[in-house]
Amino acid sequence: MCGIVGYTGKREAYPILLKGLKRLEYRGYDSSGIALQQDQHLQVYKKKGRVAELEELLLGKGLHAHIGIGHTRWATHGEPSDRNAHPHVSQSGKLAMIHNGIIENYAPIKQELVSKGYQFHSDTDTEVLLNFIEEIQTQNACSLEEALRIALKRVVGAYCILLIASDDPETIIAARKGSPLVIGIGKGEHFLASDASPIIEYTREVVYVNDYEIAIVKPDELILKNLGNEKQTPYITRLDMELSAIEKGGYEHFMLKEIMEQPETVFDGLRGRLLAAEGKIIMSGIEQHLPAFLSAPRIIIVACGTSWHAGLLAEYLIETFARIPVEVEYASEFRYRNPVIHPGDVIIAISQSGETADTLVALESAKAQGAFIFGVVNAVGSSIARLSDAGAYTHAGPEIGVASTKAFTGQVAVLTLMALKIGYAKGTLAEADYLNLLLELEQVPEKIREILSQSAHIQQVANKYKDATDFLFLGRGYNFPIALEGALKLKEISYIHAEGYPAAEMKHGPIALVDENLPVLFVATRDLYYDKVVSNVQEIKARKGKVIAIITKGDTILPEMANDVITIPEAHEAIAPILSVIPLQLLSYYTGLAKGYDVDKPRNLAKSVTVE
Ligand code: M6R
Repeated sequence: MCGIVGYTGKREAYPILLKGLKRLEYRGYDSSGIALQQDQHLQVYKKKGRVAELEELLLGKGLHAHIGIGHTRWATHGEPSDRNAHPHVSQSGKLAMIHNGIIENYAPIKQELVSKGYQFHSDTDTEVLLNFIEEIQTQNACSLEEALRIALKRVVGAYCILLIASDDPETIIAARKGSPLVIGIGKGEHFLASDASPIIEYTREVVYVNDYEIAIVKPDELILKNLGNEKQTPYITRLDMELSAIEKGGYEHFMLKEIMEQPETVFDGLRGRLLAAEGKIIMSGIEQHLPAFLSAPRIIIVACGTSWHAGLLAEYLIETFARIPVEVEYASEFRYRNPVIHPGDVIIAISQSGETADTLVALESAKAQGAFIFGVVNAVGSSIARLSDAGAYTHAGPEIGVASTKAFTGQVAVLTLMALKIGYAKGTLAEADYLNLLLELEQVPEKIREILSQSAHIQQVANKYKDATDFLFLGRGYNFPIALEGALKLKEISYIHAEGYPAAEMKHGPIALVDENLPVLFVATRDLYYDKVVSNVQEIKARKGKVIAIITKGDTILPEMANDVITIPEAHEAIAPILSVIPLQLLSYYTGLAKGYDVDKPRNLAKSVTVE
């Protein structure tokens, strides 16, 4: 949700900013821009559209500067346009600023500034904040840093901002609350960005800036202060990420690369944790807090989007194996409906990015009520990971495609391990079943590989149905969350209206939609519900709907009924969902591709939703 990048040092700033913006483009791609400072002068360039369009605009301009900031936008206040693109310049022309977040009380501040004669050239809250800072500096005759501090005490909302001034050839002033900021420490240079991807090829030493901190960044100096003007000690961490992980590696799209990586990423999530031959699961985060899980009257899972679907699946797994009641909450609803949290309740937060504002805010409020928070997070060092009392990383590696794929299977792998570990420790999961499930889990990476080898067939199915206007995804039991996830993937990537439903619930309403034009995808693997799902397939066929079925290898019944089938290897019904989701990811990828859409950057979306 907006990517920001900054540089101060001896190198040419522009190429660093441009490359950084390309890496951060997954966070927003409505418009982009840069501001460079040279010879007491700010040069600002911005353009509606992708970073490539900005690059084209700047081709041959011979931009030279050693300090600069860049931004790629996901629009909140004001439509995507050149004038609303960042950086914004203050009324005097002396300050340039970029912002990721939302200033909620911008309207009264804007009124105040307009009454003082300020004119605005965009519809953004960012321009308001920038002029507010300038006004405070003018009125108080204080430093820019001081003016920023005063302004931030008055604003409500979320922000990560970078600010440069025409009269300062060295300093970037940054601040964060609720939106991420990483500072890379080089030799006589500093790099600033929303995540580590623009930084990794220059340095591995980074500082994650905390909420309510201001950073004064010069080539040779990094000062961190809180809003009370007290110096804070920067905590330097080492990046554990390879450059290849954020490149396409020969694939046409990140989404395809990330789907294809899943045998390895799921393996990485299980590695060192699943010792099937020894009958053990090692998860230090759980072991250290086992009494909290064993005595929990209730587990509340908080997440958004695809991560919420992983949470829904975890409800089935935890209730089955550990017999602990589970509630799965949309983070955005949980926060504002004043939820009842009992002492002893355990909260599991699930997030790929670890920066999703809805989830973060929900957790902050639960934490303030004394809840114990266990994070299942992919992005190492992210805000949710740091806020959690304990957790387990999913180890899926950086996920760049806006549609979540490998992060989902990583989440499912970790949540399955958790459910089995807690269930076994609690005595609600019998040893023989536990050992069998461990062996099943160990085979998952190989089985995913087998499914991926059918991608050509799945592409054919996608091409056949690509012109459908609507799609229904149905599943029961463990396959219900997978039906929801399949529908979300298809919507995001192909813009086809798709709904996921419990297969049996279909007859209570959605069946009215069924006619010869409606493809209905059944996740119909061999499980407890199989015979009932077969009856649901018949109900669709009787109304001339087109049936696509995800079935278990060896099934001879559904191939006779369905228009198209995609098979997955045999697996225990609790393990099957991590497999049955793979064809749905490929189906949506190939449908989006066939329709000529940008599957890595679908319209209106952003990878990391850092506004509420
Ligand atoms: O980073 P998070 O897992 O917290 O993100 C949650 C959702 O925004 C995310 O899963 C979103 O729904 C994806 N676009 C799904 O593909």
